[in-house]
Amino acid sequence: MTSARIPLIIDTDTAQDDCVALLVGLLDPRADLRAITMVAGNVGFERQVRNAHLTLNAAGRLGDIPIYLGCRRPLVRDWVSAENVHGDGAGGLAMDFDGLAAHSQHGVDALIDLVAAAPGEISIVAIGPLTNIAMAAVKDPNFVGNVKSLFIMGGSNNGRGNITAAAEYNFYVDPEAARTVFEAGFNVTVIPWAPLTLDHAVFSREQLAGIAAIDTPLARFFTRVVGTTLDFDESVGIAGSTHPDSLTAAVLLHPELVTAAADYAVDVETGSELTRGYSAMSWGVHELTANARVVEAVDGAAFLQYITDLLSRPSTLNRPFD
Ligand code: BDR
Ligand code: CA
Repeated sequence: MTSARIPLIIDTDTAQDDCVALLVGLLDPRADLRAITMVAGNVGFERQVRNAHLTLNAAGRLGDIPIYLGCRRPLVRDWVSAENVHGDGAGGLAMDFDGLAAHSQHGVDALIDLVAAAPGEISIVAIGPLTNIAMAAVKDPNFVGNVKSLFIMGGSNNGRGNITAAAEYNFYVDPEAARTVFEAGFNVTVIPWAPLTLDHAVFSREQLAGIAAIDTPLARFFTRVVGTTLDFDESVGIAGSTHPDSLTAAVLLHPELVTAAADYAVDVETGSELTRGYSAMSWGVHELTANARVVEAVDGAAFLQYITDLLSRPSTLNRPFD
């Protein structure tokens, strides 16, 4: 018996592990990827679009999945780059981009229309700042109810941030958007940075060497894209590459990866500069109403095996990489 495919949209600031999350959506037989929507985040907006095209190419799916361009800056703040972490976000890979164009519809309208056309069926994997998702919720009062489930990579479960002591990058960049989304009433699952990602979704150099040794076109793409951030990660005390975005997509498709999760009341700090983007995750003892399920632990070995298997698949590039 084959299980039903899961319709999803990936909202992304495509660089490094966002590329791996797109591969999950493109290659996992359980995934029915309907669209990619782009949001301002990790690296320059046009660079992110190129990174998404590079990823579609690596999967041999160029032209199959539309890319919609969403918000080019946070709701009320200036964009904050993570280029110091990611470089160009694709390990310097290049190809001929001639003739490749994003869809003409705005990403926020695409999100609204795609879920309205299949109410309650499509899940969204949001792995960048939450600007597009907040905009869609504000623009269309039916949007929240039309989304089956919203899987968010962001915040920390009362743990350390990464861009500041208090804040994880996606929530820091657009805290007003994150707050809007948690107040909106979505069916939310959160994959936090700390401690979850740091404890269960870091691939060591030895594990990365194991993936590189597969030597498929997909493994070569992965190795190139992920390799850029290794030095940075090690410089901040993380012993390998980090995979919060691909874990978020994987958990939607394979909930059995989750070994611990609980309901929390999540809110995001917007007032303070010191703790801008801090995610307060209240675990049920403060008389607050839960608005999200927060993943607390996953089977890290099974996740590594899942990514390894995905990258072992044969694929044919649509265009050669330079
Ligand atoms: C998040 O920020 C980005 O740099 C990564 O892609 C991930 O979505 C981790 O804080
Ligand atoms: Ca991301």
